[in-house]
Amino acid sequence: MVSIVAAIDSKRGLGKNNQLLFKIPEDFERMKKLTMGHPIIMGRRTFESIGRVLLGRTNIIITKNPEFQIPDLAFQGETLEGYVMGSLEKAIEVAKKSPGSEEIIVFGGGQVFKEALEKDLVDVLHLTIVEGDFGADTFFPDYSKFKRVLSKHQGKSGEYNYTFLELSK
Ligand SMILES: NC(=O)c1ccc[n+]([C@@H]2O[C@H](COP(=O)([O-])OP(=O)(O)OC[C@H]3O[C@@H](n4cnc5c(N)ncnc54)[C@H](OP(=O)(O)O)[C@@H]3O)[C@@H](O)[C@H]2O)c1
Repeated sequence: MVSIVAAIDSKRGLGKNNQLLFKIPEDFERMKKLTMGHPIIMGRRTFESIGRVLLGRTNIIITKNPEFQIPDLAFQGETLEGYVMGSLEKAIEVAKKSPGSEEIIVFGGGQVFKEALEKDLVDVLHLTIVEGDFGADTFFPDYSKFKRVLSKHQGKSGEYNYTFLELSK
């Protein structure tokens, strides 16, 4: 199964200036729980925004730049799992051979989400929807084909009202 994990605002905003729009501890925890132990696929810009590979997950970065390398795969004495691939399809092939491949996570950002949905590669969306317009410059694509609600949970964190939503087609 291929899924997406993303946090968006009411306008489907994803990010601004290559950063996230908000930092909500409950959303961070959810993201960690959903992705831990699974391969995650992300665009080069999202990787640079995070600044390092995430522990406990095979990180697969896609770029058209054949010279791109992950700067540092050593962390606290461990060698981290990171691959650089030239296309989304190639990234999915690597993910299929990685630990936790029963769920492969497309991790963003906007360009990669758009391609994955347009090519119909995604089975499930794990969305966090945060109420409000945070002035994004990068957006999540239209996901109106995902009509079936698998789970829904509303919460509040400080000034943020959010909904955890799990959708399939
Ligand atoms: N809210 C969330 O859940 C969430 C999640 C992730 C990211 N974000 C936000 O999203 C923003 C970044 O998204 P973005 O759309 O600007 O960039 P992105 O999708 O993260 O990365 C785009 C880059 O990925 C590479 N790429 C994309 N498609 C490719 C393909 N088919 N084959 C090979 N390489 C490909 C290209 O790298 P090269 O230019 O090197 O070729 C491209 O420039 C940031 O603001 C980030 O904080 C938000």
